[in-house]
Amino acid sequence: MELTGKKIVLGLSGGVACYKAAELCRGLTKEGASVQVVMTDAATHFITPVTMQALSGKSVFTDQWDPRVPNNMAHIDVTRDADAIVIAPCSADFIRKLAHGACDDLLSTLCVARPRHVPLLAAPAMNVEMWTNPATQRNVQQLREDGIHILGPAAGAQACGEVGMGRMLEPADMLEEIVAAFQPKVMAGKRILITAGPTFEPIDPVRGITNLSSGKMGYAVARAAREAGAEVTLISGPTALATPHGVHRVDVQTAQQMMDAVNQAITGQHVFIAVAAVADWRVANPSTQKVKKTEGGTPHIAFEQNPDILATIAARTTLAGHPYCVGFAAESENLLEYGAAKRERKGIPLLVGNIGHHTFGQDDNTIVLFDEQGHTILPRADKLTLARQLISEISKRINKHSLFQ
Ligand SMILES: Cc1cc2nc3c(=O)[nH]c(=O)nc-3n(C[C@H](O)[C@H](O)[C@H](O)COP(=O)(O)O)c2cc1C
Repeated sequence: MELTGKKIVLGLSGGVACYKAAELCRGLTKEGASVQVVMTDAATHFITPVTMQALSGKSVFTDQWDPRVPNNMAHIDVTRDADAIVIAPCSADFIRKLAHGACDDLLSTLCVARPRHVPLLAAPAMNVEMWTNPATQRNVQQLREDGIHILGPAAGAQACGEVGMGRMLEPADMLEEIVAAFQPKVMAGKRILITAGPTFEPIDPVRGITNLSSGKMGYAVARAAREAGAEVTLISGPTALATPHGVHRVDVQTAQQMMDAVNQAITGQHVFIAVAAVADWRVANPSTQKVKKTEGGTPHIAFEQNPDILATIAARTTLAGHPYCVGFAAESENLLEYGAAKRERKGIPLLVGNIGHHTFGQDDNTIVLFDEQGHTILPRADKLTLARQLISEISKRINKHSLFQ
């Protein structure tokens, strides 16, 4: 329940993507938000107010002359206790109206009448030619300058049969963006590189050695970093997880591939967070063909050392202190002792310890932060909550460092 207690005004303008607004509305209420839907006249041609009323559990406003509000001023009443206004879909026409401060229907009027502290988020949705039209682009630029958050659009196949930019973000991505809007932007302007998941070291083309890491902790850290305003690159071992919205993901399989991908991406990063459970050893001589089962025999597998990604990057830290390196350690016993020792051995300012069998595959975790002062326990919580706490801790530490300013 990421939006408990939040009041969201969901505005629909006239576009085919109104069907996605129905699912978005459902998602918002499932996350605990109270949703007041307001529709333009054109929007009611694409989806009925009845559907939006059923999904939001509230009567929908479509008309500025609607007498249901006692003082007949819905444009004021609806916005005064709102936590955010989300226009989804936002038509080319509605973008024009926002850019010019038009007040010729209820939705446009309430956007102009909203208190300045109420964030306005707009999700454009239109044909590729409408989106790339210089007039639309001029208006979108104006919205950005006015502090309106533009969500998307995405590229792809469009309802009209054409292909290109202009698709409204998917409801799940919209939801992530709306949740992110309420998170403090403690990492604005920072670039953060994160590794996540297990590695897979092949024995032959169909078999290999891996571990039980699901990637959930690393993906949560990537999402939390993005929510905090950072530009995030996620280098991921094999997982079944969806990429957090707005995060650039690079897929790898082996520890060596992860090392190579990290080396390629590390320049210019402010923070490196090594969450991945990287195999310490790989098979020295993986077979290029499937190893055949022989009567009574078992194959002999020789191992060799994998690169230590965290220690390699920590050793590269520049005079300016970049990147600030954070490591994860998954232990099965003696966490406090092993965690403190590992931080020193790796030469990093912050290490996050957790117990392998309490985190791998789980939605919740308990973590211990080790730094030069000692250790702090962050009690058991869902991984996104812990990831947000971790990002906040990292931001406090790097913001103390004047070279990061
Ligand atoms: C079938 C149909 C589909 C349309 N789809 C879109 C669309 O996806 N995006 C858009 O910006 N306009 C679209 N339009 C045009 C808008 O509906 C039109 O500009 C309308 O005046 C917008 O009004 P509003 O901004 O007050 O909601 C479409 C029009 C029709 C007839």
